[in-house]
Amino acid sequence: MRRVFSGIQPSGIPHIGNYLGALKNWIALQNTESALPPIYCIVDLHALTTLSGHPQQLRQLTIESTASLLACGLDPKKSIIFKQSSIHHHTQLAWILSCITSSGVLGRMNQWKSRQKTHNSTLGLFSYPMLMCADILLYRSTDVPVGDDQIQHLELARNTAEIFNRTYETDFMKIAELILPSESGACRVMSLREPLEKMSKSNQSEYSRINLSDMPSVVKSKILRAVTDNESRVSFEPDTRPGVSNLVSIYGSYSDKTIEMVCQEFEGKSTHEFKIALHDLLIEKLYAYQTEYQRIMEDKGYILNVLEQGRKQALEIADENMKQILEMTGL
Ligand code: ADP
Ligand code: NA
Repeated sequence: MRRVFSGIQPSGIPHIGNYLGALKNWIALQNTESALPPIYCIVDLHALTTLSGHPQQLRQLTIESTASLLACGLDPKKSIIFKQSSIHHHTQLAWILSCITSSGVLGRMNQWKSRQKTHNSTLGLFSYPMLMCADILLYRSTDVPVGDDQIQHLELARNTAEIFNRTYETDFMKIAELILPSESGACRVMSLREPLEKMSKSNQSEYSRINLSDMPSVVKSKILRAVTDNESRVSFEPDTRPGVSNLVSIYGSYSDKTIEMVCQEFEGKSTHEFKIALHDLLIEKLYAYQTEYQRIMEDKGYILNVLEQGRKQALEIADENMKQILEMTGL
């Protein structure tokens, strides 16, 4: 049976990159009949790489992230939604896996190389991908829906599974497959200010990303300020016109249209006219999310209960698998 697993950091309100790159797929995958319930994890241990020393904020962001997932359409009756730190097996397995992984491999991870420049290069940041491997392998996951910034980390998880299987002469660990957004989906949404960088919760400028919580006036000003170039036509040429191309891709993803359809729709129109259509579309799409988010945030007890029920379901699977892993490793 297939098992879907993915995670999101509670390091800030999800942005449209998180939604188009990952969450949209998470929701679609809830309805696969022939598979086990998908497991979606709020990876608060990963978020500690940027939120150490801010316990209140981390706690609050964990609640808000959970509410965001529910507001996007995740259904706790169909999916297992829980907090990473509530299952101790994740860190335990991360250690076991780190004992069969070469530190050179981790040193070559792109995210490590780029974040090292802007963050404190802690040991946690360095071994971040190892914990992600543990998340995936612990549930013997077969399908991992993520944005394309995570391809390298997923490849590491696949390799680590193989190394584990070789080391312990077993086929216990599954080699998970990457699930990227389909044709009309944006695999990687870029920053609105620096279109060569990905949109991220950790981008410096607020204007670089559109959060799912952004009010209409904010969406409007962020889109109007989005970096384009001195040509006014609407086209998709990521290499030479990354700014406009990113906006075209966002428009296509949100309206379920292909890139070609979007370019055709705006043939002969200016980038300014296109931007107006884009902010109107986003405002409409975000409205539904925002009303749902506000409703859910009024009942904190409900949110905590979702995480608690999810913890119980995840624990059952994790316990069973960990028992076998400990047996195999001799611990
Ligand atoms: P962030 O990088 O903003 O902190 P996370 O690390 O929590 O986001 O990633 C959560 C999910 O969102 C992952 O599957 C990741 O691939 C996806 N994702 C993050 N940023 C983008 C982006 N700019 N475009 C597409 N997908 C993204
Ligand atoms: Na990330």
